[in-house]
Amino acid sequence: GEPVAPSGAGSGFVVVANRLPVDLEKLPDGTTRWKRSPGGLVTALEPVLRSNKGAWVGWAGVPDVDVEPIIEDGLELYPVPLSSQEVEDYYEGFSNGTLWPLYHDVIVRPVYDRAWWAAYVEVNRRFAEETAKVAAEGATVWVQDYQLQLVPKMLRMLRPDLTIGFFLHIPFPPVELFMQMPWRTEIVEGLLGADLIGFHLPGGAQNFLYLARRLAGQPTSRGTIGVRSKLGVVQVGFRTVRVGAFPISIDSAELDEHSRRRSVRERAAKIRAELGNPKNIMLGVDRLDYTKGIDIRLNALQELLEEGRVDPAETVMVQLATPSRERVQSYIKMRGDIERQVGRINGEFARVGYPVVHYLHRPIPRDELIAFFVAADAMLVTPLRDGMNLVAKEYVACHSDLNGALVLSEFTGAAAELRQSYLCNPHDLDSVKDAIVGALDDDRDTKRRRMRSMRRQVLTHDVDRWARAFLDALSQGNVAGSALLSE
Ligand code: ADP
Ligand code: G6P
Repeated sequence: GEPVAPSGAGSGFVVVANRLPVDLEKLPDGTTRWKRSPGGLVTALEPVLRSNKGAWVGWAGVPDVDVEPIIEDGLELYPVPLSSQEVEDYYEGFSNGTLWPLYHDVIVRPVYDRAWWAAYVEVNRRFAEETAKVAAEGATVWVQDYQLQLVPKMLRMLRPDLTIGFFLHIPFPPVELFMQMPWRTEIVEGLLGADLIGFHLPGGAQNFLYLARRLAGQPTSRGTIGVRSKLGVVQVGFRTVRVGAFPISIDSAELDEHSRRRSVRERAAKIRAELGNPKNIMLGVDRLDYTKGIDIRLNALQELLEEGRVDPAETVMVQLATPSRERVQSYIKMRGDIERQVGRINGEFARVGYPVVHYLHRPIPRDELIAFFVAADAMLVTPLRDGMNLVAKEYVACHSDLNGALVLSEFTGAAAELRQSYLCNPHDLDSVKDAIVGALDDDRDTKRRRMRSMRRQVLTHDVDRWARAFLDALSQGNVAGSALLSE
């Protein structure tokens, strides 16, 4: 990257997220380089920011470094420093030991720690202050995700001239669960600093509207919220805050094109050959996170092998798992559990030179990942809870050949759109096993029909449409009628 030439005027469009789209990597020889950050937020927002010519405020992914603003590959990046104590308390602690499990149906028990909360407030203030410096007069600022829920209110106090949007990339939980949060009112009020608050699904938006009434005591609309339409309204003094559902997506056309390239097709064929040309290749692609249900798909596979419904001589499963949040206790435990499970299945069913489960614990380069999507006969997406799950959409975008089948948990945001997938309930192992068998054994025409229908949805609802829907609603301002309001 090169230093940003200070223009003085600031940026008219600013994205604020916990992470920059790239992570600083410290190499053993003391030098540094940038690599792509993990996760769906970056996958989705990177193409949006490129076409909107804006600035990105976020953390560089390593503690205790103070990096100058840079232009990296055409993006204007403004790093926010975090100390190692803040990484522990704000990032690993409150963000990923409290909010992440609370918002994902308490799959793991959230820890409520006052020191973590204090760090969360402190770091949110720093993000708000940095953003206030970067944004031009009257700029549009788009705050992202659960790590920064206090930023909208803090930023509005510093810069009332700004238009502020907020989007939550993870599920917004049921009211009964949210009520556990000791700082529930502060969080709702923090979000209400925005002009528009976006969620993936109408249900999450509806939950938030109820809490705005109950916890913040503000009058709200009562009507049903629709997808990209019929926004909810909260009246906060003289300000009107709107609340809506905006399901996120991927750069579908780019992925479709990329997956058709000859180099990718050749690599996919080579992957099949390297795996021993089995009849069926099943694929999992996830951050190594307990919400993803990697253990569930392994359990399903193990039982199917034991019952002889899946033949180990003609079936291979590949699990690509990016390391994630490796110092958080629940992640350390889950990694151990999954690696034991992989070992156990191979111990029982593999032949020498032919493992049944291939497990790679590292990020895979994008070209290679796309070749895996193309090579896979069945994609296994089995989260216990997931805001959207972009992997499901990526797999569909890579199958212009209409081959392949998607096994998809009902508890993902994507399930609302991909109704022609092999849907399953991850809490019901028989349902997961049946979905896998269906995805492998259904006749070719059925699978092609299902894939064609899912492709229509994914190709017409891409990330550009998501961003336009959100930003259009944000710029349309206070047009909603306050006649809808009631206490
Ligand atoms: P989350 O945001 O919770 O990580 P998503 O499925 O929405 O889940 O997005 C994950 C993104 O990270 C996708 O773009 C996916 O392709 C990418 N990804 C996941 N696992 C890997 C991996 N092992 N190697 C490379 N990229 C990965
Ligand atoms: C999810 C979250 C993002 C987060 C990403 C990777 O997509 O919604 O906010 O950036 O996971 O997690 P990490 O903790 O590595 O940033």
